[in-house]
Amino acid sequence: MKGDAELVEKILSLKTEREAVILAHNYQRGEIQDIADFVGDSLELSQNAARTDAEVIVFCGVHFMAETASILCPDKIVLLPDIHAGCPMANMITAESLKERKRELSGASVVCYINSTADVKAESDICCTSANAVKVINSLDGQEILFVPDQYLGHYVSTKTDKRITLWPGFCPTHMRIYPEHITELKQRYPQAKVVVHPECRAEVIALADEVLSTGGICRYARRDDVSEMIVGTEIGIIHRLKKENPGKKFIPASEQAICPNMRLITLEKVLWALEDMAPEVKVPEEIRRKAKAAVDKMLQIG
Ligand code: 13P
Ligand code: SF4
Repeated sequence: MKGDAELVEKILSLKTEREAVILAHNYQRGEIQDIADFVGDSLELSQNAARTDAEVIVFCGVHFMAETASILCPDKIVLLPDIHAGCPMANMITAESLKERKRELSGASVVCYINSTADVKAESDICCTSANAVKVINSLDGQEILFVPDQYLGHYVSTKTDKRITLWPGFCPTHMRIYPEHITELKQRYPQAKVVVHPECRAEVIALADEVLSTGGICRYARRDDVSEMIVGTEIGIIHRLKKENPGKKFIPASEQAICPNMRLITLEKVLWALEDMAPEVKVPEEIRRKAKAAVDKMLQIG
């Protein structure tokens, strides 16, 4: 196996040769974040993919994120260095099951969390991310909403709006590993620390938080002058970026078990192989892409 420095050198030179850009999610391994052109949350990554001039996008994240880039940039080559990097929550709903539920709830607007497949986005009225879910829902004319697939983000949004929201029973197995007991125990040990959690957490965890934010929101919040210690209620890959951007501040993971194994599948070696082989590529079939893009574009207009 090559050393990291040698791998990084090869990746960077091949990246230039291929006119590629490397986008990485905030949960990626530290060494992947360090070679990326841009690191961010799902909303920031899709906004970035939509405006890049690069010919090739190497997406260091999970499958739905690469699909979203393909939806927005059909003429670009979107590479996902490990094609098995899926999101279990996105796989908790299919287009067929959604169609059936839509028939039962006729008239409801379907809002799909970006953590969903292109097929599901194609069956939805509008997409949202954890950064803009409340804004997206409040922008809709109707009162009846079917929110898919994350029941916890959906529930959190329902506390911030007067719309009537029907939930889908999906969840993130990684965020389920964070329990309210973790937060109460850490609050006793670190009484000065702010508690910041992701909206995919259980409602009981959210109830104990000072702030409920997307991963990008967590990174911005950490930079505030009045924050010197933070209990971080999300996937622990984010701690790398938090420490790098805020030397001297203390970041305490709510649970060391909050690891997304799918995010970890992307390694430096696989990034190099992806650039060498120009594979695995993620490409959404045109008919689905057009319908899914309508839902994603509506979200991006709202911001
Ligand atoms: P963010 O959009 O907040 O980065 O969340 C993505 C995700 O998969 C959370 O588990
Ligand atoms: Fe999916 Fe959860 Fe991993 Fe995010 S952390 S990609 S929601 S499994």
